[in-house]
Amino acid sequence: MSENKRLLDDESEAFSKAARVKYFNIVVDSGKGATITDADGRMYIDLLASASSTNTGHSHPHIVKAIQDQAAKLIQYTPAYFANNPEVKLAPRLAKLAPISGPVELAWGNSGSDANDAVIKFSRAYTGRPYIVSFTGAYHGSTYGSISISSVSLNMSRKIGPLLPDVVKVPYPDPWQRLKGESDDDFVDRMFKAFKQPFETYLPAEEVAAIVIEPIQGDGGIVKAPTAYINKVVEFAHENGILFAVDEVNQGMGRSGKWWSIEHFDVEPDLMVVGKSLASGMPLSAVIGRKDIMESLNAPANVYTTAGNPVTTAAAMATLDVMEDEHLVERSARLGEKATEFFNQEKSKFKFIGGFRMYGLDGGIDIVDRKTGEPDPEATTKLIYRVFELGAIIISLRGNILRFQPPLVITDEQLDQAFGMLDQAFSELEAGKLTLPDNADEIGW
Ligand SMILES: Cc1ncc(COP(=O)(O)O)c(C=O)c1O
Repeated sequence: MSENKRLLDDESEAFSKAARVKYFNIVVDSGKGATITDADGRMYIDLLASASSTNTGHSHPHIVKAIQDQAAKLIQYTPAYFANNPEVKLAPRLAKLAPISGPVELAWGNSGSDANDAVIKFSRAYTGRPYIVSFTGAYHGSTYGSISISSVSLNMSRKIGPLLPDVVKVPYPDPWQRLKGESDDDFVDRMFKAFKQPFETYLPAEEVAAIVIEPIQGDGGIVKAPTAYINKVVEFAHENGILFAVDEVNQGMGRSGKWWSIEHFDVEPDLMVVGKSLASGMPLSAVIGRKDIMESLNAPANVYTTAGNPVTTAAAMATLDVMEDEHLVERSARLGEKATEFFNQEKSKFKFIGGFRMYGLDGGIDIVDRKTGEPDPEATTKLIYRVFELGAIIISLRGNILRFQPPLVITDEQLDQAFGMLDQAFSELEAGKLTLPDNADEIGW
């Protein structure tokens, strides 16, 4: 019996199905750079980077050493009571990186989810207003606060309500909202009208604390909001004393070819959330914001026993070193151009590639029915499964979008190998050679 299967059978006796989105039945045993190896010793090129949480690659030696050295010195003393050495260095270093002018402060969290909860807390406290506006297709996390402002999967709200009150969702301006033949300007105008509709009918703007957005949606399909739309939303926020908060958990840390996805736009957030790759996948997040906002709460309004833990903050310091020393933001942008070239070429070869978006090493590739142009989740599942068999990890978003997010340290050679596997899977799909895996109905969100 395969070791993967033996281990998963053992686990299944004790593991809740609510806690894993199923894709491939493997146990990840080790990782190095842009590859991972499963319990049967099979190596894969990782095109997922652990859900964009290992932008510096797996087990980078500089980060491993920082973790080992810190663990030997002090694993934990709760930052809720006393500061620790790496954490005091990280706070000003990270605050300086934030694209917010003027004095900036931050507070630690353990996950993207709790840092988004912190956005709700700080913005309500600062403004004295209850409402939060967020967007369809958003994923902000899995705590009650962050689930309440998310809207990407029914299983996230099914059976667990009531969710947080005073949250209003407006449509995200994604390509699927676009009417046939609609111009860029008309699209933005129509979507901004939809944004404003609640404010004109039941949502008093003076009762709204914050607008929370992923400037590039991750789980929503790797989709960037139009610049003109973001400008209008930010202008509206400013006019009405509403805070503008951005979630950089998925798209930050160089993923989109810039440090932060909001830097694709010419606006500044009041608050932002960072997590995932901040400490190369060690559990550390931060809510970062204008000092006056971050001073609006008193302890213990946002403390956690392990948030800002010495090992995680040492890992984050080392992660920032690697990002800078290896120029990973620039690398993401350069390799993203290479990926754009590849997917353009594939799109002209295969009609079932309906379109794609690529911002740095950060792509969403739409798989559609070649006749109707409608989303084709079956073909997508066949593709990701075939690519997995060929030796790379890629998963789907929204059922029919390939999620392309390799570690930013992926080599040119590994990228070419991955493109070879994708091209082979695309060709086999075109030739009708691919079948659904046995567990197809379990796969995906
Ligand atoms: C944009 C975004 N925000 C927040 C989260 C939640 O982060 P975490 O899973 O660390 O709680 C995620 C996770 O995928 C995310 O993509």
